[in-house]
Amino acid sequence: MLRLPLTEMQASSGMFKSNAPLIWRLLILLQFLPGVLSWGKEGHYATCKIAEGLLTQEAITTVKMLLPDYANGDLASLCSWADEIRHNPRWRWTGPLHYIDTPDFKCNYDYCRDCHDFAGRKDRCAAGAIYNYSTQLSYYGLPASEQKYNLTEALLFLSHFIGDIHQPLHVGFTGDAGGNTITVRWYRRKTNLHHVWDNMIIESALKKFYNLNLAVLVETLRTNILEDWSADIPSWEVCESNQTVCPNLHASESIRLACKFAYRNATPGSTLGDEYFLTRLPIVEKRLAQGGVRLAAVLNRIFVPVQPSRLRMPVAQSWSKEGHILICRIAQELFQPEAAEAVKSLLPNYANGDLSSLCSWPDEVRRWPNYQSMSSLHFVNTPDQACTFDYSSKILAFGLSGTAKKMSALSVPSKSSSCSCCTTMKGQNILNPMHVGFTSDKGGNYIRVRWFKHKTSLHRVWDREILRKALDGKDMAAFQEYLHETFKENWKGENSSWTDCPDLLSCPKKYAAESIRLACEQGYNRVQEGMKLADDYFDSTMPIVAERIAQGGVRLAMTLNRVFGEHNQAIPSPF
Ligand SMILES: *[C@@H]1O[C@H](CO)[C@@H](O)[C@H](O)[C@H]1NC(C)=O
Ligand SMILES: *[C@@H]1O[C@H](CO)[C@@H](O)[C@H](O)[C@H]1NC(C)=O
Ligand SMILES: *[C@@H]1O[C@H](CO)[C@@H](O)[C@H](O)[C@H]1NC(C)=O
Ligand SMILES: *[C@@H]1O[C@H](CO)[C@@H](O)[C@H](O)[C@H]1NC(C)=O
Repeated sequence: MLRLPLTEMQASSGMFKSNAPLIWRLLILLQFLPGVLSWGKEGHYATCKIAEGLLTQEAITTVKMLLPDYANGDLASLCSWADEIRHNPRWRWTGPLHYIDTPDFKCNYDYCRDCHDFAGRKDRCAAGAIYNYSTQLSYYGLPASEQKYNLTEALLFLSHFIGDIHQPLHVGFTGDAGGNTITVRWYRRKTNLHHVWDNMIIESALKKFYNLNLAVLVETLRTNILEDWSADIPSWEVCESNQTVCPNLHASESIRLACKFAYRNATPGSTLGDEYFLTRLPIVEKRLAQGGVRLAAVLNRIFVPVQPSRLRMPVAQSWSKEGHILICRIAQELFQPEAAEAVKSLLPNYANGDLSSLCSWPDEVRRWPNYQSMSSLHFVNTPDQACTFDYSSKILAFGLSGTAKKMSALSVPSKSSSCSCCTTMKGQNILNPMHVGFTSDKGGNYIRVRWFKHKTSLHRVWDREILRKALDGKDMAAFQEYLHETFKENWKGENSSWTDCPDLLSCPKKYAAESIRLACEQGYNRVQEGMKLADDYFDSTMPIVAERIAQGGVRLAMTLNRVFGEHNQAIPSPF
């Protein structure tokens, strides 16, 4: 299975004890590989080196741009950076991101149950960190002024944690801290089981089979990837539902391997020698290779060519709370039974089954640290004056189609089985698209205008002033009724043009193109800085806002019906 120099392997038994020059070479080598930490420095180096060889041109360019100068363009040289900084006070919180503790002897993994730190803070584990840092990196195309995170750090963390999550004992039992408290002998040296898997197996392999040369080990794994494993590579690279990252899959593999190979025959006090080494080495080598192949696949998916957005456009916010609630209420009336049931089961309990009560949730959380990376999902930036929308996978349309994709992968849990953490996590998934996808976001934050008597910005006029004036003390039910009537009179013929789009992934492009066209026609082209806007402007724009809200509701229902129901089913006539 594995390309191992077999004759050398047989010839080498005994070398471990007696070959003095080799020991010296090992010591010299170790000087260049200081600080043996998690998935030892050698393991991380190998994983990143393999990944480097599999990157697309776009990914190579971006990685080099993100690396600090002293890395000389070599990602592998900084793949243990996350280990080096983890004891620094500023980074101490990242300690739990290197591993996942799972229940003793269960031999399985569950994100909701297991992904937290010792204090129970959610998402603080290797899988959560992979989600976090890959999301941060996916905004690399946005202008620096809109970057909230240091993408160099995101790249180094992501590269490291994808390595860690492939080390079987980084997804180990809670009771023995992933083998850290299981004292064993590795040949004659006293150590612990975790360390055996982080370092000793790799070090012994370097010594016995690879001439103490890490480059030879990397080259051997590369050859295996091109030959013996080549048929498996596509299945290693792909994530379910084409997601960018799939740490849950890797973590499940790891805990299974930990039970089957790492813990087995390695009870406290045992001595591990040739038998253990030679049967486990192929596992270690395959995990190093898988980590490298998958890191490359992830970076290649994240760093896709984009049109640089040449010009700055005001950052839009979104519909006011009222707009979101109306959109969700309209949608709720149009849900098919499957979608209605699915939505109810995904909502947190405190929503009482009412989606519209949480429709502004993404706005409320977007400043929370955990969700800041989603902030740019709330708007679309387009080149000034172009009045067209060119899909660049970085932004709103990406948020919507990505979320829709994620939702199609969700199996709907029965109510009783959901833990509170799952409810929140899935709540997040389901609540996102309503926000990001069905708002006609507009720029115009920087264009100051007068709305009747008070000063505001063009953006706020579209965000809330028009709708607030339309509501004008009336309750939302009355406005909904108005939408209902207008639909029957004016929009009925248009329902198919509202919902038409070949597939869920291309819908957001269409919505964004409509929005920017409207923004140009009704916003930028009609309004100059300092202008006073009053009845005339309201009378001509209110119907547009009303139509956008109705469209938002119809489209949200259409999307969720398609995601949760049978595909290609007819959309019921709205209202
Ligand atoms: C995501 O990464 C950022 C930057 O390191 C950090 O501030 C934030 O707490 C992380 N979120 C989670 C859930 O780990
Ligand atoms: C990003 O992080 C790296 C590593 O911590 C640091 O060297 C660099 O100065 C940071 N860049 C910015 C722009 O803060
Ligand atoms: C994943 O992407 C491939 C190629 O782009 C596509 O053919 C396939 O249908 C996608 N699968 C899912 C589940 O989205
Ligand atoms: C649009 O509405 C008409 C009349 O109510 C209905 O027959 C048709 O099926 C609807 N189209 C879609 C795509 O729902």
